[in-house]
Amino acid sequence: MAASGVRVVQAAPAPSLLLLAFFLLPSFARGWGTDGHLIVCKIAQTRLTEAAREVVEALLPEYAAGDLSSLCSWPDHVKFRYPWSSPLHYIDTPDHLCNYDYNRDCRDVRTGEKGVCVAGAIRNYTDQLLHHKGPPFGQGQYNLTQALLFLSHFMGDIHQPLHVGFTSDKGGNTIDVDWFEKRQVLHQVWDSSIIESAKQRFYNDSVDGLIQDVNNNITGIWADQVPRWTTCGVGGPACPDVDATESINEACNWAYRNVTNGTTLGDEYFHASLPVVYQRLAQGGVRLASVLNRILWDGDED
Ligand SMILES: *[C@@H]1O[C@H](CO)[C@@H](O)[C@H](O)[C@H]1NC(C)=O
Ligand SMILES: *[C@@H]1O[C@H](CO)[C@@H](O)[C@H](O)[C@H]1NC(C)=O
Ligand SMILES: *[C@@H]1O[C@H](CO)[C@@H](O)[C@H](O)[C@H]1NC(C)=O
Ligand SMILES: *[C@@H]1O[C@H](CO)[C@@H](O)[C@H](O)[C@H]1NC(C)=O
Ligand SMILES: *[C@@H]1O[C@H](CO)[C@@H](O)[C@H](O)[C@H]1NC(C)=O
Ligand SMILES: *[C@@H]1O[C@H](CO)[C@@H](O)[C@H](O)[C@H]1NC(C)=O
Repeated sequence: MAASGVRVVQAAPAPSLLLLAFFLLPSFARGWGTDGHLIVCKIAQTRLTEAAREVVEALLPEYAAGDLSSLCSWPDHVKFRYPWSSPLHYIDTPDHLCNYDYNRDCRDVRTGEKGVCVAGAIRNYTDQLLHHKGPPFGQGQYNLTQALLFLSHFMGDIHQPLHVGFTSDKGGNTIDVDWFEKRQVLHQVWDSSIIESAKQRFYNDSVDGLIQDVNNNITGIWADQVPRWTTCGVGGPACPDVDATESINEACNWAYRNVTNGTTLGDEYFHASLPVVYQRLAQGGVRLASVLNRILWDGDED
């Protein structure tokens, strides 16, 4: 989305296009790119229980044709329409500490308001969906279609390591790097470029084979870890604090490692980072399914 916005601006557009570009341009690229969210939601969809799938299908607008993954980037497109939602995509942690604390870090950086971060948002939308009384929807206080889309998106975002990054560099958004020959910010490398390069090199530019391979690893080499991914020690339907802690650790161990302003990132960095990206996408998908399976039911139970 950031890339297409920039291209529109460079093309010396007509005023209407300029206006469009203004609405499309995010102030900072935040969160997995379109492919990342698609991958997380596709993985999740195949793991839903019958009951959860029915509720998901009932909540999705008709044009989605039952495909949650087709709308998993929606929250990135409404940051301007819903400015309150833009701080819900990430967490800024203190520089170089490499840890995360909900009470310390989950707040709106601009206003200081507590709970305004991706971990708080996951709790918020989980609660909204948990308290629904089954279909028909739309009679309560909240729009549960939006709750589903926000939750599905934020479960992806919290697994992007640089979503739980340092405060002063805005999660790698102010660190310029050369990704092979292309100048971009470090955050974008982790949102999109690593996935994009893997797609081009290994999957003939198609995301389907990549998703297939991640799914094969979930049922293969990662199979004995998967139950641990979905165990919430605190017993909640979601464990955003666990997810966020893992992300800041991965950010320090992999994303920020050996990178300063102006560093050129090439094959070595790509090959070191790709397994981390694959695993975070897998964990995001598996955990999204697990959360939805825990909270979505048809209203007939008890
Ligand atoms: C919770 O959801 C409501 C409805 O979308 C929204 O107005 C509020 O800002 C959200 N708060 C957080 C912390 O996610
Ligand atoms: C809920 O939000 C969706 C997406 O923005 C919108 O299309 C739908 O009309 C809303 N539903 C209600 C009942 O307001
Ligand atoms: C990196 O350099 C750019 C200008 O080249 C500057 O705007 C940015 O603040 C720098 N980032 C950091 C983290 O120093
Ligand atoms: C790669 O994609 C192109 C264009 O989509 C297609 O024509 C070609 O057959 C594909 N190659 C392989 C090996 O799948
Ligand atoms: C799957 O696991 C194999 C073996 O560890 C690894 O080489 C491959 O890159 C992984 N692929 C994905 C998409 O996770
Ligand atoms: C980081 O730098 C150290 C020391 O130069 C090097 O041994 C290591 O391989 C580098 N790590 C990555 C991921 O590039």
